[in-house]
Amino acid sequence: MTTRIGILTGGGDCPGLNAVIRGVVKAAVGRGWEVIGIEDGFDGFLHHHKCRPLGLEEVRGILPRGGTILGTSNRGNPFSFPIMREGKVELVDVSEEVRSRIDQLGLTALVVVGGDGSLKIAQEMMRRGVPIVGVPKTIDNDLLETDVTFGYNTALETATDALDKLHSTAESHHRVMVLEVMGRYAGWIALESGIAGGADVILIPEIPYDIDKVRESIIARCKRGRRFSVVVVAEGAYPSGGNRVVLEAAGGKSVVERLGGVGEALSRELGGVLEMDIRVTVLGHLQRGGSPSTFDRCIGSRFGVKAVELIESQSFGQMVCLKGRHITSVPIEDAVRSLNLIDPSGEMVRHAEALGIMLGR
Ligand code: F6P
Repeated sequence: MTTRIGILTGGGDCPGLNAVIRGVVKAAVGRGWEVIGIEDGFDGFLHHHKCRPLGLEEVRGILPRGGTILGTSNRGNPFSFPIMREGKVELVDVSEEVRSRIDQLGLTALVVVGGDGSLKIAQEMMRRGVPIVGVPKTIDNDLLETDVTFGYNTALETATDALDKLHSTAESHHRVMVLEVMGRYAGWIALESGIAGGADVILIPEIPYDIDKVRESIIARCKRGRRFSVVVVAEGAYPSGGNRVVLEAAGGKSVVERLGGVGEALSRELGGVLEMDIRVTVLGHLQRGGSPSTFDRCIGSRFGVKAVELIESQSFGQMVCLKGRHITSVPIEDAVRSLNLIDPSGEMVRHAEALGIMLGR
């Protein structure tokens, strides 16, 4: 009997998803297996037309492409699935339907490419008897037990490039340029792009910032003749004693809290006192798009191959991961038990401060 496996991509997209899909298909086809691609995350199991065979032809030429050829969704949680009843949205448990569809398709295993949300769903589905292996995806780099998630490197490149561009205009106009980057509750994109892009101030969720100290550091730079400053602020950053800026609370149209707007809030906080002009750039979803970097293409492809190797050895419940230069695996539950956040007294923060970067404290 032929082995047939499924693959889906869930949650927010990121560069490198297609590299993983291609890696899985190539490694599986090489073993004589069949692959079924499930469109739009777990959602796809609920619609017959959204489950389609993936062969070498389907993955040809997708390696440098951003996004995911399978589509994705961050609303399709089978344990809390939104359906319309009498004009109202109701959340229902459709996990049994998903499970029986998996049986119907004859899948011996499922590859779930996702961040903490999708991998937590994967864990629940495992408990209901679905053999799953996970692949860590997210630009936020907030999953534990892997040195890095794929997609993060490309997002960093985008943020660093934006900082380089903001630098020259900041300097010409003697302005404060604020760049708001993504990352949800983790400050990885802000911290690493800020170091790489020579930022003067980096504000991250892990270190609530003191607005007076931020202001003083910009004024002090000015007094030293540096009449401009570049500030990177992570969307999850907030002032000490204050709150995060939330665009949309969880529970409405969005399953999770949507962050955004801290750049403008910061500019208002600074604006009253600084004489310099302040301009805010929100990098937004540009960080999620575009062609994956060499690094993301490479680990994405290798993660895909490793996922197939895990299925072959029946190592279900595992997530592929990068440790040093090796692709290995860890239990999914270890990777999602909490978020991978920056240690405020850790090496990277210390090094940033040693470079003269102000971290809001
Ligand atoms: O988790 C990835 C991410 O891009 C976060 O950095 C950001 O907060 C969120 O997704 C944005 O989600 P959406 O695509 O729903 O706006």
